[in-house]
Amino acid sequence: MTDVYISSTPDPVTPITLVRTGDLSTWLESLDPAAASWVRSNRFEAEKNQFVWLPDGSGNPGLVAVGWDGEDNLETLGGLALSLPQGVYRIDAEVSQLQLLGWALGGYQFERYKTAPRDPAKLLVASEEDAAALASFESAITLVRDLINTPAADMLPGHLAAEAEQLAESFGAECTVVVGDELLDRNLCAIHAVGRAATDAPRLIDIRWGDPDHPQVVLVGKGVCFDSGGLDIKPASNMRTMKKDMGGAAQVLGLAQLIMAEQLPVRLRVLIPAVENAIAGNAYRPGDVVPTYQGLTVEIGNTDAEGRVVMCDALALAAEEKPDLIVDYATLTGSARSAVGAEIAAMFSNSNDVAEAIFRSGEQLDDPVWRLPLHQPYNYKLESKVADTVNSASTPFGGAITAALFLQKFVADLPWVHFDIMAFNTRARPGRPEGGEAMAVRAVYGYLQARYGQL
Ligand code: BES
Ligand code: MN
Ligand code: ZN
Repeated sequence: MTDVYISSTPDPVTPITLVRTGDLSTWLESLDPAAASWVRSNRFEAEKNQFVWLPDGSGNPGLVAVGWDGEDNLETLGGLALSLPQGVYRIDAEVSQLQLLGWALGGYQFERYKTAPRDPAKLLVASEEDAAALASFESAITLVRDLINTPAADMLPGHLAAEAEQLAESFGAECTVVVGDELLDRNLCAIHAVGRAATDAPRLIDIRWGDPDHPQVVLVGKGVCFDSGGLDIKPASNMRTMKKDMGGAAQVLGLAQLIMAEQLPVRLRVLIPAVENAIAGNAYRPGDVVPTYQGLTVEIGNTDAEGRVVMCDALALAAEEKPDLIVDYATLTGSARSAVGAEIAAMFSNSNDVAEAIFRSGEQLDDPVWRLPLHQPYNYKLESKVADTVNSASTPFGGAITAALFLQKFVADLPWVHFDIMAFNTRARPGRPEGGEAMAVRAVYGYLQARYGQL
């Protein structure tokens, strides 16, 4: 990765000024008449996502003016890194760390299979500490995006485990991986059932980091490296994007990187059930009954509701040590997308206080989350005639809620937050390129920092 944020440079630095939309005329009056008419002829109206060059005395670009709507978000500077010519810039205005972060997040390019035609423009920031703090967020979100954007053939359970091991090693964390039939010996039969038909064996990734005296936080992420739907196969149009079905795993690896890099005083555990939901003669079937780690038996109503089946074993494992908090991320249901769309994370929690605090943190950090209810009466939809529960309800109404209620059966009464996310931008926005995306990661990090940071 190129260093987008720098704190010193021998290169020439072009200043950037922010012009509030309402302040356009005042700002124009402050310019000399030639410059003002140049700005007007470029149709610059100081609206968000607009920018204009101002020539200096010798006719060279001397200043960039950027329109600003007054909001504190990723968008303000998010369109610049790949629109301005390569070079070094600095912001001559009061801007937040969040706005500065937009610069690098908007400069992201996925270069695993082809080199991008240009590098992002660089940003000179006030201090080395600022550059490091920004780079730490940038690098975590870049990790999330790269993991999701990498196609399934190069991001199978084994690859995902290797990524986790590498992350653990670079922060001196422990990482163990339970692979294939070993899952059966450990009573992780639900993970095994979903992943056993794939050539790359299913596995459970388990990272541990931090001081044992600190409060324990467990992050759990759905790592379905490809979701064909299984025997209840998906139609082609729905299957096309299913390389991103390990998006939950990507979120927790990125968030874990951030927590470890910033040395948050928590005892961190990361659990990722990593599988491919594939089709073969030994695939799990509709009607099968699967035993789980927690003890409940699950009747498979639909093999395409595989996420909750692998998550239930990981959540039960998470609950075993009675942590202070469990947070899970999963690309769990199409229903959550119908409810809040692709750009908002659906949040469920058994704690009003935690949910409200994360919601507020998300608002502050331009990372929108919206809470949906764990409506207990809908549990009737999960009743099975032959097992303790079914994995999927027979009608699609409230599908994100029934999926969350299913997961809740495995976390006991421990404080728990569940995110049902898209993990993918279906359109490009400033600071948010099309493709894999971190969702609810800044919101949760901000919350954890406020709750545990002062210990
Ligand atoms: N990975 C999908 C959910 C998904 C689809 C997330 C599209 C984001 C975008 C999940 O495994 C799935 O297939 N869910 C089914 C559940 C149903 C069979 C009960 C769904 O939502 O349709
Ligand atoms: Mn599925
Ligand atoms: Zn899935």
